[in-house]
Amino acid sequence: MSIKPVYIIGAGPGDPDLITVKGRNILVQADVVIYASSLVPEQMLEVCRPDAELVATASMTLEEILDFTIARARSHQLVVRLHDGDPSLYGAIHEQIMALNAAEVPFEIIPGVSAFQLAAARLQVELTVPELVQTIILTRISGRTKVPDREELSSLAAHQASLCLYLSARHVEDAQAKLLAHYPSETTVAICYRLGWTDEKILLVPLHEMASATRNQDLIRTTLYIISPALGEAQTRLEKLGTARSRLYHPTYDRLFRESSKS
Ligand SMILES: C[S@@+](CC[C@H](N)C(=O)[O-])C[C@H]1O[C@@H](n2cnc3c(N)ncnc32)[C@H](O)[C@@H]1O
Repeated sequence: MSIKPVYIIGAGPGDPDLITVKGRNILVQADVVIYASSLVPEQMLEVCRPDAELVATASMTLEEILDFTIARARSHQLVVRLHDGDPSLYGAIHEQIMALNAAEVPFEIIPGVSAFQLAAARLQVELTVPELVQTIILTRISGRTKVPDREELSSLAAHQASLCLYLSARHVEDAQAKLLAHYPSETTVAICYRLGWTDEKILLVPLHEMASATRNQDLIRTTLYIISPALGEAQTRLEKLGTARSRLYHPTYDRLFRESSKS
């Protein structure tokens, strides 16, 4: 009997409905589901078989996760590894791919919706507006994981593209300073916190307030920034919509709606 592939599935950014149909169809059949409980919503697991083995990785090392995955696959179980967003973006799947290849365990990757895509949907914007901006940059600032020098944020900022900044909230002052070297200080930044979760918050602020707004609202964990000329239009449109959109743009947090809630 041949070993079944391990499925590395993108779970999307928090909303349980944002997994792909293909991902869900595999999830419902899985014998074993390995997931990070802080990043994958529990409701997504409600479709799993009642006898499925659900393994939260919080207390496991990467080596333990890999050994466990390989052992279960070798015992002919259908193993799913659920990753938040899309696995190809900061998903640390490189180590898994190496380990599965070395163990000669087949695997398949099912893509997911990344945080930047849900952010654009929430903001109701196109990040590639003709004649305004035609490039999207997905990047992060150096932290424990070093970014190669040639990908320094200040040099990427020179393009003034739609820039989606992952994993950077803890270094937001540094990020803001580097972005201000090239983007106008009034460029709109969307600070997107826990998109797709019930405590989601989105703030629209000018670039020069990016760091202070992040710190004031303590939006350090699971925050994505979008800096883009395309957001200027979103801001104008949302101003017209006013408080009708306050579910997404909380009046306490959003400069925009602070203004409208005063009037
Ligand atoms: C380890 S990376 C994983 C990214 C994920 N693979 C993706 O495609 O979105 C985690 C970072 O992604 C961003 N992120 C992931 N999910 C998010 C969400 N629901 N809301 C806002 N940012 C999110 C944040 O920048 C967070 O620090």
